[in-house]
Amino acid sequence: MTTPPLANWTSTIGAAGAFEIWERAMALEAQGREVIHLEIGEPDFDTPLHIIKAAHRSMLAGRTRYESSAGSIGLRNAIVSFIKRTRGADVDVDQVMVTHGVKGTLFAALATCLNPGDEVLIPDPGLPGNREISSIVGATPVPYPLLLDDGFLPNIETLQRLVTDKTRAIILNYPSNPTGSLFPQDTLEALADFSKRNNLWVLADEIYYQLYFTEDAPPSIYNIDGMPERTILMDGFSKSYAMTGWRLGFGIWPKAIAPAAYHFILNNVSGVAPFIMDAGEAALNGPQDSVEQFREAFKQRCEYVSGRLADFGIKHHVPDAGMYIMLDMRHVDNLSELNYKLLNEGVALLPGTSMGAQGEGLLRLAFVQELSKLEIAMEKIGKILG
Ligand SMILES: Cc1ncc(COP(=O)(O)O)c(C=O)c1O
Repeated sequence: MTTPPLANWTSTIGAAGAFEIWERAMALEAQGREVIHLEIGEPDFDTPLHIIKAAHRSMLAGRTRYESSAGSIGLRNAIVSFIKRTRGADVDVDQVMVTHGVKGTLFAALATCLNPGDEVLIPDPGLPGNREISSIVGATPVPYPLLLDDGFLPNIETLQRLVTDKTRAIILNYPSNPTGSLFPQDTLEALADFSKRNNLWVLADEIYYQLYFTEDAPPSIYNIDGMPERTILMDGFSKSYAMTGWRLGFGIWPKAIAPAAYHFILNNVSGVAPFIMDAGEAALNGPQDSVEQFREAFKQRCEYVSGRLADFGIKHHVPDAGMYIMLDMRHVDNLSELNYKLLNEGVALLPGTSMGAQGEGLLRLAFVQELSKLEIAMEKIGKILG
């Protein structure tokens, strides 16, 4: 029996690489072996109790019905204050659209800004979803390199060479997954000039914004003159509030395209559950000590891991933020084999190539386990990769 063909994007989807290690790790665990998971990008912390209680209260109060597709007014107002507090920017509540995670905003932004055949510049290495969602909306993702030897910062000349008459948008992600790099102010200013010169939308993924190890909070492209008109600022709750499973994120949209984003979300998913949004409101308006604790814990783990890697003579990029550290294994001939050897010893790391071609020769270690587990993992890493 013949069936109709599938959409073109289904033939190019490539998430398999990212799951390969994880699946092998699961297979080992099914045999009763212990694996320390440093391959996944999920904080090991529990969602703070006051946030869980807020969701519970909200459900009991009957907040289980349809809500505005843009998000509850309570959460949207909380986001307005949060953006003022963290970025120092004044945004209007009409510019705020709540979504299912930052992925939800990414999908809405790519679907709203791009037509089939348009090109979008995506970071390489970077979140695989950037490539996949671009393809789903019929656009062509064009990777731009973030090279270890450049501190994983974008190079404007290289970016300019990748621009064609079809380029409509650029995705930025700082602090970065997987590199842990922050973009300093002069890099952001150069990127802002670049986007204006080429008339591009800027999708600024700042999901790791609060997890910085520097003295001050990182700069944001949103604060540069003329950028709020062309930037969709994306942030969410998954990492800073340990709420990955709640599926909650948001975008700050340019005033002119916020109505289009609203229509996309309305017709796609019709908004997020009200009790989840009430939990998000409690996260932003409530005590911020857990964010501080998570940031401190990640910083401490990062210093520990980086110190041990240095002891073993393993070159790596010292991150300024986030949850990841990139190991430079470019001198190894068969890195995949070595990584499987490490997995067989009970430590799972992610091959850099899961995040793009420029991840070749690199391994991503997510410090998402407590120090006692990291100590065991680092001993094994030292023996096998050192
Ligand atoms: C850079 C980046 N953006 C977006 C996401 C998706 O986050 P969310 O859980 O909010 O959809 C992730 C998750 O790993 C990420 O690393």
